[in-house]
Parts: sequence; structure tokens; C-alpha cells
Amino acid sequence: MKYLTTCEDDTIQCAKAFAQHLKGHELVALDGTLGMGKTVFVRAVIQALSDKNVEVPSPTFTLLQTYDTIKGTIYHFDFYRLKSPEEAFEIGIEDAFSDGICFMEWPEKIGSLLPPNTIHIVFENTPNGRQIEIKD
Ligand SMILES: Nc1ncnc2c1ncn2[C@@H]1O[C@H](COP(=O)(O)OP(=O)(O)OP(=O)(O)O)[C@@H](O)[C@H]1O
Ligand SMILES: [Mg+2]
Repeated sequence: MKYLTTCEDDTIQCAKAFAQHLKGHELVALDGTLGMGKTVFVRAVIQALSDKNVEVPSPTFTLLQTYDTIKGTIYHFDFYRLKSPEEAFEIGIEDAFSDGICFMEWPEKIGSLLPPNTIHIVFENTPNGRQIEIKD
């Protein structure tokens, strides 16, 4: 599924539609370079499944933020600052992967620890806007 987006609100609408299909145990990797809208996407999913006013800060420094939602716990990871894939164990990826829904920014930083059944959402620039492709 591919969406062409031209503004933040388009990303939010795309995320809201995606949120409705979640069941409760998905692993979701957000692939794309700096500032492509990954956090905007996850924030919109969390707000759609909990409270539209809930604060969803970027986990750039905390590496992980968790949320209670109507589809269970959502784990929002940002692996950008990980020094090694193994450090992901210290922040609890194993428990998170076997529990709720996990969204992962910068998934390439955990290398082969990323499970093969992960859904990938790819954010890319195109001449006509930003493309969001959901690969599941
Ligand atoms: N479809 C879009 N078109 C244009 N701008 C957008 C779109 N979606 C989001 N943005 C803007 O992109 C900016 C960066 O968004 P965001 O912080 O979500 O990026 P990110 O991919 O999480 O970056 P990082 O890799 O640093 O975590 C925001 O200012 C947001 O308003
Ligand atoms: Mg981000």
C-alpha cells in the first residue's frame, strides 16, 4: 500500500487508517531518513488509539516510551542513539516484542535482532511529495 503525502496532516491521516488495522501484537519498523515524519506517524497512531491529547514526545533520548491504548501497550522505540544492537536488550526489546505493539524508528540500528515478521513502513522523498509505503 503506497500513499503520497504533501504535509504533516496527510501523514496523520495515513497513520490513523493504519491504526484501525492493528490487532495488538504487531512489530512495525519505520524506515526513512532524518525528519521524514516517523514520529509524526507513531504519535498519530497512539493518539488515535488512546486520547487525542496524550503527549507523545520523540523517544530520541529516552530510546523508549510506552503507552496504554485500546489495543494494549504500545512501545515506541527510537534506536538512533544505540551504540550497539546488543544495547537494545538493556532497554527491554525482548519483553516488548512478546507483549504489545512495537513501533521502531531507526530499525537498522538493531541489525539482525529485528524479527523477520516485522511490518515495514518506508518513508521516502519523491518529486511529488513524501511517499509512505506499508509493506506487510
Ligand atoms: N508528509 C509530510 N510532508 C511534509 N512534511 C511532513 C510530512 N509528515 C511530517 N512532516 C514534517 O516533518 C517533520 C519531521 O517529522 P518527525 O519528527 O516525525 O520526523 P522523524 O522521521 O521522526 O525524524 P527523526 O529521524 O529525527 O526521528 C515535522 O516537522 C513534520 O511536520
Ligand atoms: Mg523521530
